[in-house]
Amino acid sequence: MLPRLQNRVPPPALCLLDLGRLRARRLEVTLTEDVLVVHGGTPLQGQIRVRGAKNLVSKAMVAALLGESPSRLYDVPRIRDVEVVSGLLELHGVKVSAGAEDGELVMDPTNVESASTDQINVHAGSSRIPILLCGPLLHRLGHAFIPDLGGCHIGPRPIDFHIRALREFGAVVDKTPEGMHLSAPNGLHGAKLELPYPSVGATEQVLLTAVRAEGVTELRNAAIEPEIMDLICILQKMGAIITVHTDRVIEIQGVPRLYGYEHKPIPDRIEAASWAAAALATRGEIEVVGARQADMMTFLNVFRSIGGELKITDDRVARDGVTGAEGGIKFWHPGGELKAVALETDVHPGFMTDWQQPLVVALTQARGISIMHETVYEQRLGYTEALNSMGATIQVYRDCLGGTPCRFGRRNFMHSAVIAGPSKLHAADLRIPDLRAGFAHLIAALAAEGTSRVYGVDLIKRGYEDFEAKLAALGAHVERP
Ligand code: EPU
Repeated sequence: MLPRLQNRVPPPALCLLDLGRLRARRLEVTLTEDVLVVHGGTPLQGQIRVRGAKNLVSKAMVAALLGESPSRLYDVPRIRDVEVVSGLLELHGVKVSAGAEDGELVMDPTNVESASTDQINVHAGSSRIPILLCGPLLHRLGHAFIPDLGGCHIGPRPIDFHIRALREFGAVVDKTPEGMHLSAPNGLHGAKLELPYPSVGATEQVLLTAVRAEGVTELRNAAIEPEIMDLICILQKMGAIITVHTDRVIEIQGVPRLYGYEHKPIPDRIEAASWAAAALATRGEIEVVGARQADMMTFLNVFRSIGGELKITDDRVARDGVTGAEGGIKFWHPGGELKAVALETDVHPGFMTDWQQPLVVALTQARGISIMHETVYEQRLGYTEALNSMGATIQVYRDCLGGTPCRFGRRNFMHSAVIAGPSKLHAADLRIPDLRAGFAHLIAALAAEGTSRVYGVDLIKRGYEDFEAKLAALGAHVERP
């Protein structure tokens, strides 16, 4: 039964009239921008490959700064976040070069040096990763300057947990209009910490700082996402001593020095799920080579509950002993109707907030009422307006619908969506608001009948390697005008 619905926003049909006009006006003046023309209505079919996870690779690159010898990272995707972190590392004296293998990155931090605030500020607003340089730079140089952060606009995204933790380690943090200056006049020492919420970034901040802080750090209410476990594996390879206890407690015993690592990152489970949702929404069949079952179990259960089919072959090398063979997961729409579901996003092992947007597009094609309760970010449903302009019926609510009350309940955040389907999607002119919502727009345009223009698609390059080549490989009819 549907939960009681309150605080209804005006029905989509009413507000879309004006929004449509506004959007048309905005798009008129931006015709010179990057745009992809999408001729929708064709099922995506074929095979693509995912590489190392964006949300691990960038942190692994920061970890290299802590070592006293070179690190080697494999399977690194060509995405914007990797360019930003490479630039920041190079500014601090780290030699970053391509290794012999495709996707291999070598980082030599032997001669770490200070960079000027002007040089660092070139990267202001480009990514959220720079905040993670605090601990490593304090250990290597005794001071750090962090530019204004960027990343997707999906809510306020404060950094209070990071700053509180750094101060507990003994850092002096000075926030100025140009950025954040840090120093550690008495060195960094272990601390007893508890996060108010299991933040991924704040957990990484603590790990990257505690590994070389003097003494023991205990972190309670830590995030335990697979990308964090992989970062812990990297740090252990470098010489760190980290114990993951039950109930989200991580203990780190500081060591005086760390060395370089060699590591193949976990595959990108967000990208894999995005293509899976694309297969469902376009009634197609996509094999995602490199996708791994263990990191995606929650998603796979949901995919199947909706009526999608999948076949897992990620253990092919071990099973068949075929050198060079690489398995993955094949996702397809088996025909017939998809089923509605009630879902909420959550920290691991829950349903990832980054899986939400592409899946909602697929849910517009399911029969019945689906619910998506977003509990990680307070403002991550704005993109549903664009889906409504394409014929979807999605209403957003302030209430915590379909699950347990979350931090955003009874506050002014539209963080639950009710999706009524199936809806026939039609083409539209769309503007990409952020990375994951952007991919969702793209899927909607591919699923819709007719020709859509998707503006700002270059933003997708922040997290999806070669997405246009992959679309071509899957038989999508897209072109740059
Ligand atoms: N939060 C605070 N204070 C803090 C830190 C976080 O209130 O100091 C809140 C946030 O506002 C949010 C919640 O805690 O409501 C969770 O944020 P978290 O710190 O976990 O997110 P993050 O580290 O900034 C990473 C990924 C996101 C992903 C989230 C959740 C990277 C670079 N980004 O962000 O990925 O959604 O974890 O899993 O790793 C993406 O890839 O498109 C993306 C947004």
